[in-house]
Order: sequence, then structure tokens, then C-alpha cells
Amino acid sequence: MVETIEWTDAGVVMIDQTRLPREERYVTCRTYEEVAEAIRSMIIRGAPAIGVAAAMGIALGVAQADANNLEAQFEKICATLARTRPTAVNLFWAIERMKRTFAESAGLSLPRLRNRLIAEAQQIRLEDIAINETIGRNGAALVPDGKTVLTHCNAGALATAGYGTALGVIRAAISSGKKIDVFADETRPFLQGSRLTVWELQQDGIPATLITDNMAGHFLKSGRIGCVVVGADRIAANGDVANKIGTYSLAVLAKENGVPFYVAAPISTLDLELASGDQIPIEQRAASEVTHVFGVPVAPEGTAVENPAFDVTPNRYVTAIITERGVARAPYGESLRGLTAERAVR
Ligand code: MRU
Repeated sequence: MVETIEWTDAGVVMIDQTRLPREERYVTCRTYEEVAEAIRSMIIRGAPAIGVAAAMGIALGVAQADANNLEAQFEKICATLARTRPTAVNLFWAIERMKRTFAESAGLSLPRLRNRLIAEAQQIRLEDIAINETIGRNGAALVPDGKTVLTHCNAGALATAGYGTALGVIRAAISSGKKIDVFADETRPFLQGSRLTVWELQQDGIPATLITDNMAGHFLKSGRIGCVVVGADRIAANGDVANKIGTYSLAVLAKENGVPFYVAAPISTLDLELASGDQIPIEQRAASEVTHVFGVPVAPEGTAVENPAFDVTPNRYVTAIITERGVARAPYGESLRGLTAERAVR
């Protein structure tokens, strides 16, 4: 499986997801500002992956900070990383965890503090891989044998530190002996489905078929799709799910056709402070992502464009939410609170 992001002595190394599948290129971010720019420009993307990137960016920023006014510098580093993308709550979760580590390290010398923050960022990365493997095991039983699984965007190894959430469930189902294949939505406008999901599944030898987003209803009606599995960027206390634009349409089509619709996500994607999905901030991205494909115009010059990067699926369309602590079902207010109450969330 590909390495999405790694801490090295030279800086934070990530596979450039804007270049896939044409080119397998790794970039090294040598400053925290470069990490922030990599998140903003989607060199690295996917909720858990940008959380890991932010944590490593903070560690890198402090590694290069001087001893004067360290707290002010730390605040500035965290604020810069927090301004990159607004929807995925994992980004803010990781920043908060690094802030806690910083506060707990108050008595340490600067070299020790630096090592402590680097260790914490690396720990977040390792934990994410283990969490995804557990999500996979928890979700594998839900995937019908001998059928096709439909997924949207990329919630795979590339969107996480490794293994993936939605694609982790698929990987675990295959490891458990199930015969399944995958339909990947193209996922306009950024093409995470065609460029990243298909590429990632091909690397693992998992049979993948590419469809355009507007074909999903046709196939959901055909009886061929056993279930839909997607990831999430933020899940509100009532189980409303923010995920890649197009997820909502897919969920409605799944319900209409009696196909289970599963969301696979770590506990760090829950935002129980938000009562419903209406309060989730939705990122608006550049018009050029819609008017151009790889720099080639596909709309007349000056065309008015809307480009929300995410939508919110109301909880009534979600069959279950698969986490590392177990599978939550409606009523989500209760079941999600039950999962988080088991242990304090770090
Ligand atoms: O804009 P992106 O590519 O960062 O959006 C990614 C998604 O919507 C994923 O489905 C989500 O982050 C879950 S990734 C495990």
C-alpha cells in the first residue's frame, strides 16, 4: 500500500495527490507554511490525512521556532494550519491534540519539547492506521458477499495515514474471504474517485470499475450494488454526515432503491458539539475546478459557478456509521454519544 505521509529529517513527505495517477511524485514540505499550502492545494486531502498533516506541520513549525516568545509562535503556527480547510473536523481535532501536548510539556527544555511534539504527530499517524484497520474489521460483516460495493470520492489509504476508512471496510471484507468488486464514482469536480480510488484499488489488485457520478442511480436500481460505503468529513451529534459533494444524492438514491448506505469514519470525525449537520461549515472552492479539467476549459469564459466541496446527508438516509468503537445505528443521538462515552476521546 502507498505511503500517504511520513515524517523525515528533511521535512514532511507526502505523495502529491494532485498528480495521481499520471505521476507518482513525492513532495517534501520543509516549513509549516508549506504543509499548510499542501493541505489547501490538496496535495494531501481526506479528513484523517489532513489531521496527520496538520499535526506534523505543527511539529515542524516548533522544530524551526526560536526560544523567544515560543507561545506566540506556537499560536501562529496552529492558526495558520487551522485556516487551510474548514469542513473536516479531524484537522481541528489534531490541532487541539497538539495544543494539549504543548501545554502538558510546559516544563520541558526546547529540544525536549520539539521531540515530544514530533513523537505526538508520529503517534497520531500510527494510531490512525490502527483505527482504520479496526473500522475495517467492524464493517466487513456488513458487506454482502458476491456483490458490488459502490463508493464515492476517496476514503482510502490516500485519505488517511493508511488502509482507509470506506476502502478499509472493503479491504477487510476481501481479507475475510468475501468476493466483492468496487464501483467508484468519478467524483467531479476534483476526480478523487477516478484519479485516486481506482488507482489505489488497482495497486492492491482489487477489482474496480469507474462510473461517472450521474450513473449511480442507474446501477443502484439494477440490483447489482450490495451496499454503498463512504467516508465522512464531519458527523454531527444527530448523525448528519458531511462528506464529498454528491454523497447526499447517492444516499437518497440508495434509500429509494433499498440499498444499505454505510458511513465509515473514526471517532475523531464526530463533532458532538454540533446538534445537526446544518451547522457544519461547507468549504467553497475555486470556480476553475468546475470550468476547467486539467487546465482545459469545459465551459464558456465567464460562466457563473458554484463549487461547494461537501454536502450534508441527513441521518435518515444513513443505515449505519462504522467506527473503531463499533457500529452506530439510529437513533444516532443516543448511539454516537454511547460510543464516545465509553472512553474519553483523545
Ligand atoms: O476534498 P477531499 O478530497 O479532502 O474530500 C475527502 C472526502 O470527502 C472523504 O470522503 C472524507 O474526507 C473521508 S476520508 C477517509
